[in-house]
Amino acid sequence: MTCSNLTENIVFLNHKSFVDGIYSSYQFHDSALESAALRSELFHVVVPYDAKSTRDETEGAPKAKKLKRAAASFDEITLKVKDKHDEYVSFNKNVETLTEDNNKIALEFIYEFNRNAHYNVDKVFNGGNDSQFIVKTTMHDEDYIIPPNCRFFNSDVRNLNNFLTHEDKFDFIVLDPPWWNKYIRRVKAVNEKSGYRMLDNESLKGIPLENHVHDRTIVAIWCTNSPSHIDAIEQQLCAKWNLKLVGSWYWIKITKHGSPVCAFNETNKKQPYERLFIAVTTDSSIKDIPSEKYIFSVPCAIHSNKPPLLVTILNNLLCFITELFTDFFPERPKCLELFARNVYPNFTSIGTEVLKLQNTRLFQLSSKHEVQ
Ligand SMILES: C[S@@+](CC[C@H](N)C(=O)[O-])C[C@H]1O[C@@H](n2cnc3c(N)ncnc32)[C@H](O)[C@@H]1O
Repeated sequence: MTCSNLTENIVFLNHKSFVDGIYSSYQFHDSALESAALRSELFHVVVPYDAKSTRDETEGAPKAKKLKRAAASFDEITLKVKDKHDEYVSFNKNVETLTEDNNKIALEFIYEFNRNAHYNVDKVFNGGNDSQFIVKTTMHDEDYIIPPNCRFFNSDVRNLNNFLTHEDKFDFIVLDPPWWNKYIRRVKAVNEKSGYRMLDNESLKGIPLENHVHDRTIVAIWCTNSPSHIDAIEQQLCAKWNLKLVGSWYWIKITKHGSPVCAFNETNKKQPYERLFIAVTTDSSIKDIPSEKYIFSVPCAIHSNKPPLLVTILNNLLCFITELFTDFFPERPKCLELFARNVYPNFTSIGTEVLKLQNTRLFQLSSKHEVQ
């Protein structure tokens, strides 16, 4: 099951099944390879991260603080999301029965990945796959899998004009900006390979997104719960990009048992949810985009990794993670992802770590004769 609508605005999605669906829909160019699936360890999130944990995802990362459970005063949005979580729990009867009481399997797997995998964010390169086969390739001593029909640019998005022309217009654009954030700064200070570089709001504003939209483009912007980041989208970025906000959606991260991955908190503290703003152009002909959605999923344990929002597989078959955009796009939408760490079919992906999570270390590959 990749995605199910539990109520009109509550959706459960299965990140792993969705990505695995891509790789089971196409054949490998290398005929000895049969299939690829995301490693199940990545989703082995069985208890909240603020429960007593073994080791954080990143060596030397700020330790999970002990919970002080004073009566928290939640803001309006947190209360709403918390209520939706209660509603979700009342629907969700299919929780997996697991015996583990910690996230060790996921955390140790990621610790090893960060320790062993090499990725040079300063290397500028680009590539793509215009075939209908999955390609396994080696670059800078690491192996990657590249899905069909995609192109990617490992580069700073501030150089967007170097690889996109004004004729490059997209039906769907997703951005997950590296919002300036104290936590990432601390993680990166301790372990260079775990955090990532950040951008200030002025630099984000400099991205010429307005050149790549048309009157039926949908833009999805991931945002933290920081009031200054929310404000930047609402007050500055949308105006600069000729967009208007039509939806505030929420991604609620839950354990395999359905609990939030950390406690709901007061404003300005860590929350188990993030926001996904949905915008269209100011002259958009698109109507009826749901203004609110609550998307529940078990997050990949890699820090800040988001579930894919739109996946197209095979020639004309569209498959949407939440089936939320189905009515709005052409049969084979042209998609753009900025600040990407993955690549997907029908996407142009740009970021300084654009292939990082396509590393085969994160996949279970099976050949015709054996599992690798
Ligand atoms: C929040 S993460 C994106 C996570 C991604 N959406 C995922 O699901 O895994 C932001 C990414 O942008 C990259 N980045 C930082 N500054 C950048 C820049 N100026 N241009 C392009 N990418 C940048 C970071 O290295 C990081 O990979």
